[in-house]
Amino acid sequence: MASPNVSNHPLVLHKLSLLRDKTTDHRTFRELMRELATLLCYEATQDLNVQEVPVETPMGTARGFKAKERIGVVPVLRAGLGMLEGVMQLLPDAQVWHIGLYRDEETLRPVHYYNRLPAQASVQLCLILDPMLATGGSAAATVELLKKSGITNIKYVGIIGAPEGVERLSAAHPDVPIYLAALDERLNDVGFIVPGLGDAGDRQFGT
Ligand code: PRP
Repeated sequence: MASPNVSNHPLVLHKLSLLRDKTTDHRTFRELMRELATLLCYEATQDLNVQEVPVETPMGTARGFKAKERIGVVPVLRAGLGMLEGVMQLLPDAQVWHIGLYRDEETLRPVHYYNRLPAQASVQLCLILDPMLATGGSAAATVELLKKSGITNIKYVGIIGAPEGVERLSAAHPDVPIYLAALDERLNDVGFIVPGLGDAGDRQFGT
């Protein structure tokens, strides 16, 4: 199987366990989702290019660095919204493009209902945010949309993935690295990740 980047950071492990817990309330769930998104964004941006720019400190001149890549962030509605703020804390200048997709409950195929991608994108890196990589249909469709807009350097940042989803996304788009907090066992017969955390959208928004 294609190998996703699965974090083994102790804080990720700790926060993910709280996130999974069925007794965690909506407010805490949203807070944990935001914090996990920040931690995973840190891992997904380890290879950003920086430009050397000297910086004047009160004591002299130091070697300074400036992150020079323009970045686009794509939260997939609804559940991806919960990851946005945590990522924007690290990347305050990123452009945000919302994509709306939901999974048809019968067919499990993604249904596309909203798209705020720019006609012409001029970023060097695009991060897709969606906590759950289940069948991989939504993630593959999002990458497809981004590629049609001319974006080539894309990373997927999720929270929990199923082997089926990782396989599907990597087979369709081997050039898109996948960052996760956990790779779970499997999908159940209605397409939910097991053990997972339930429905990420419902648990965030109290629906
Ligand atoms: C969930 C999740 C992904 C998708 C994953 O969204 O946030 O977008 O399902 O499933 P897949 O890998 O099988 O495509 P959902 O359809 O529940 O919509 P919501 O975020 O609006 O609740």
